[in-house]
Amino acid sequence: MTNFFRAMSIAVAAGTLAWAGCSDDAGDAPPSGTDSGVDSGGGVDSGGGVDTGSPADAPGPTAVEASAETKAVWAKMSGYAAWPRFSENAKPALSKGHMNMYVLAHYNDVVGKALIDKTKPLPDGSIIAKDNFAKETDTTPMVVTVMAKQGGKWYWFEATPDGKVIVDRTMEPGKPIEGNDPKMCTACHSSKADSNDWVFTHDFSKDMAMAVDPSPATKALWPKISGYTSWPKFPEELVRRQTDQHMNMWVLAYHNEVVTKAMTDKTLPPPDGALIVKENYAAETDAKPMALTIMSKQAGKWYWLEATPDGMTIIDRMMQKGMPIEGDNPTMCTGCHSAKATTNDWLFIHDFTK
Ligand code: HEC
Ligand code: HEC
Repeated sequence: MTNFFRAMSIAVAAGTLAWAGCSDDAGDAPPSGTDSGVDSGGGVDSGGGVDTGSPADAPGPTAVEASAETKAVWAKMSGYAAWPRFSENAKPALSKGHMNMYVLAHYNDVVGKALIDKTKPLPDGSIIAKDNFAKETDTTPMVVTVMAKQGGKWYWFEATPDGKVIVDRTMEPGKPIEGNDPKMCTACHSSKADSNDWVFTHDFSKDMAMAVDPSPATKALWPKISGYTSWPKFPEELVRRQTDQHMNMWVLAYHNEVVTKAMTDKTLPPPDGALIVKENYAAETDAKPMALTIMSKQAGKWYWLEATPDGMTIIDRMMQKGMPIEGDNPTMCTGCHSAKATTNDWLFIHDFTK
């Protein structure tokens, strides 16, 4: 099975050679040796030997227009690269199954709920979209492989980043890889059919992680809060106090100088760059907070984050189940803070008009 998949993917690699050649890493593109786009595939995986699927043997397009059904799933995947990743696949990982590509699987909110509730089989509406990168550092995938649950069945497809469907050249030659049973996908994933609803990466009978690797946007935020414990506190909250709001934790909030200035000038809403870091302790005298809850004003909006002190993003287990608590609108945060949205720019502790 591995060889079949590899051969198919080599065909893909050859087919997308023109695209790869346009990128800044052309030096690492498979050496095609010809101008016709025809490639033996050897450059991708010289150990292969199963090159029967290369375009040289099977002329025709490597990718075709997607079916209406695939297009409908594709539309629901808009922005999928920002979807959460499984804790088991937090970073691009070298995949033996997927043609030695670097893979990174993202899941949608329906899968997130199933992760928390341990629902198996996964319900309709579940989408897992997996990027397959040629190199670990690539930002544009070679292909996207997708599983979407609908009508109680997985719908599978393999597409280029712009939504064209890859044509199978080995298992069902000439057939676009899309539908409920493209052998290119199901033959291999069937080994997990009964035990884990065809899914490899996460065992849906096991608990999901409490926290996951931060998204790129959250990663960019961390350097900005470094050393926050030396920042000023709000005059209204100079020492830890127990709140009946943030899960009865002991809280203490710090803010940066942008907030200090907004307080002095009575600027409401506080401008971009405003940062508030709130520590949440389980007990009054604990040395280390359980969690940090953070608000960061960027592009005119608050960015919300709940994280462990060592930088992992905490997973929402109650509201948007299975989703990391980070971004413009994690309802775990905004549901409550919205009480102050219009009067005090979502903020509780200090009244910025005073
Ligand atoms: C040779 C075996 C093999 C083939 C063929 C294969 N997969 Fe996978 N797939 C895997 C394995 C193993 C994983 C787990 C992560 C990894 O190692 O890539 C996986 C992971 C995935 C995931 C992430 C969810 C999960 O199951 O963990 C998706 C989505 C996916 N594959 C889609 C596809 C699609 C679509 C096709 C057909 C184009 C396909 N796969 C073909 C072996 C395969
Ligand atoms: C149940 C309601 C509730 C929820 C849910 C909630 N907060 Fe709060 N938050 C408050 C209240 C009340 C205060 C002010 C009193 C205090 O310090 O606890 C506050 C204060 C804060 C502050 C200090 C700035 C200020 O004055 O508002 C930050 C930062 C903060 N919360 C972030 C978050 C984040 C991030 C989340 C989501 C993980 C969140 N909060 C969820 C009620 C809530």
